[in-house]
Amino acid sequence: MSSLFNRADFPMLKKTMQGKPLVYLDSAATTLKPEAVIDAICEFYTDHYGTVHRAVYELAGESTARYNAVRTQVQRFLHAKSSDEIVFTKGTTEAINLVAFSFGEAFVHPGDEIVISAMEHHSNIVPWQLLCERKKAHLKIIPLLENGQIDLEAFEKLLSARTKLVSVAHISNVLGIVNPIESIIKSAHHVGAKVFIDGAQSTPHMIIDVQALDCDFFAFSGHKIYGPTGIGILYGKKELLERMPPYQGGGDMIQTVTFEKTTFQAPPLRFEAGTPMIAEVIGLGAALNYVLSHGLDKIHVYESMLMNHALQQLKTIEGLRILGPTENRTSLITFNIDDVHPLDLATLLDLQGIAVRSGHLCAQPLLQHFGCSAALRLSFASYNTLEEIDFFCKTLAQTQLVIAK
Ligand SMILES: Cc1ncc(COP(=O)(O)O)c(C=O)c1O
Repeated sequence: MSSLFNRADFPMLKKTMQGKPLVYLDSAATTLKPEAVIDAICEFYTDHYGTVHRAVYELAGESTARYNAVRTQVQRFLHAKSSDEIVFTKGTTEAINLVAFSFGEAFVHPGDEIVISAMEHHSNIVPWQLLCERKKAHLKIIPLLENGQIDLEAFEKLLSARTKLVSVAHISNVLGIVNPIESIIKSAHHVGAKVFIDGAQSTPHMIIDVQALDCDFFAFSGHKIYGPTGIGILYGKKELLERMPPYQGGGDMIQTVTFEKTTFQAPPLRFEAGTPMIAEVIGLGAALNYVLSHGLDKIHVYESMLMNHALQQLKTIEGLRILGPTENRTSLITFNIDDVHPLDLATLLDLQGIAVRSGHLCAQPLLQHFGCSAALRLSFASYNTLEEIDFFCKTLAQTQLVIAK
């Protein structure tokens, strides 16, 4: 079995599930980790461990230097102008909550509008709902065309001088389609609104250039790009971050503290209260190195090949309906089969060692658009092989027949 990534790099791929070799097709939920990442974390705890920012001794200085180096690495990875624009968070979800709170405090007033699309992950819905409730603002939803694409004409009509921020996914975690964010960003800027791009599903599969995109905020999660859990990135334009108040209070984010008044650090430290996830940051650095050593352009080509191979075979299964258009998509496919519940399918696939996601996929409004409450999703990474896709499709066809009987 050959794949773009060396499968031997991923210890989990040697595992069995239900006594069968693991066929891992749930990388959109979270990716498996290469040894380089696991080793970097182990090595940090074993040989280099120390806190950051707070102490003068050698170990702390070394930790701080490594921690700061990853910030610069992420800056380059996203093609941001300055490492001051890179905030470490727990993940995409925390990055969205941070902006919803902090941008909301600075810029959103009663009667203002926040715009999101109907295809968003719950993480890109609920924080904005909470903000709108808190600030008495209105949440506007961009409708979708029948095939699931964003209705750009309807979007243009939603925009007004009251629109403060537009937040959309770069790639949908259900449809896998790449949204036209360039044109969304331009239109939003035209009315003076800021734009948040949820890059959780795009960052592992394509080159991101936040300056070329001209988005105001961008977020992604380390665990979806071969890094550890508990670490994510918020990119924000410096001039905006500087105008936003702290999200949480604590150590590291302050300049001076008295009982009368506290003054705060400049970004990014202003948004990083408390001892940060130092080992996770080090692990993220190793993950980005691993990805870049293969090249995101090669990753994109390889994973597109896997996906097209799967699409061809899935189309031959009777009663199978793929959610969303089949063009301009990456690395994941969500579908339903007539009269078969996706949870039953996923349970039987599990018995064959196949890991896929089933259920509402954290996007209940989007599934409603397609008239269902659950679906089954397979998603790829560059450690998957054509043989695994063949095995999945063959097992799916057999399983479906068993259930239909
Ligand atoms: C499009 C999208 N946005 C946000 C998230 C939330 O990411 P996390 O749970 O890592 O914070 C996910 C996770 O599945 C996602 O797919």
